[in-house]
Amino acid sequence: MARVHVFDHPLIQHKLTILRDRRTGPKEFRELVNEIAMLMAYEMTRDLPTEEVEVETPIAVARSRVLAGRKLGLIPILRAGLGMVEGMLRLIPAAKVGHIGVYRDPATLEPVEYYVKLPPDLPERDLFLLDPMLATGGSAVWAVDAVKRRGGTHVRFVSLIAAPEGIRRLTDAHPDVDVYVAAVDERLDEHGYIVPGLGDAGDRLFGTK
Ligand code: PRP
Ligand code: URA
Repeated sequence: MARVHVFDHPLIQHKLTILRDRRTGPKEFRELVNEIAMLMAYEMTRDLPTEEVEVETPIAVARSRVLAGRKLGLIPILRAGLGMVEGMLRLIPAAKVGHIGVYRDPATLEPVEYYVKLPPDLPERDLFLLDPMLATGGSAVWAVDAVKRRGGTHVRFVSLIAAPEGIRRLTDAHPDVDVYVAAVDERLDEHGYIVPGLGDAGDRLFGTK
């Protein structure tokens, strides 16, 4: 059964409030998305395995811990997921980055694919799918399907704001995929926008509206 983690860290919540504000422009919006993504990466990676190694300090040999286990992969869902990559790479710089291009048809709200490029060794990696908005869940379910079809097995989904409908659709379709969010909002409106949400994440990131 999928677990849904809601990060209520005060810094994440504070930054999310500024992000939601309609007066926040693209420059600050981009910075905040990256900062929140970095804080979420810190929380999400608590369960990564470590192993003990020896390291020589200027004084003596220390037994100390380093990351062990599977390699990591970040997969932003274009466009808006791109905004989360840099912040996460600051903490996990060795992660490989794949891309999934999908947009939501405004009439049907169904996902439409336009680009997929993923690391070849997907099965060996812990994969983090990134998209700031989990609304109907159509794009998320489609993206997880796309990753699994190409051999991805250990997949987590990371989003800033989710609607209950999107969480339900994603966890029903992919019960093995844990979901990490900064907030679960009230509902979707008649256009499939999250209420209260933050508007169109891609447009606000890139200033296209
Ligand atoms: C937004 C968002 C998600 C999707 C969520 O992308 O970034 O990918 O909508 O909606 P869903 O859960 O109902 O599928 P959009 O289609 O606006 O594309 P963009 O990122 O290129 O702006
Ligand atoms: N995509 C967005 O960018 N915002 C929403 O509220 C829903 C889908």
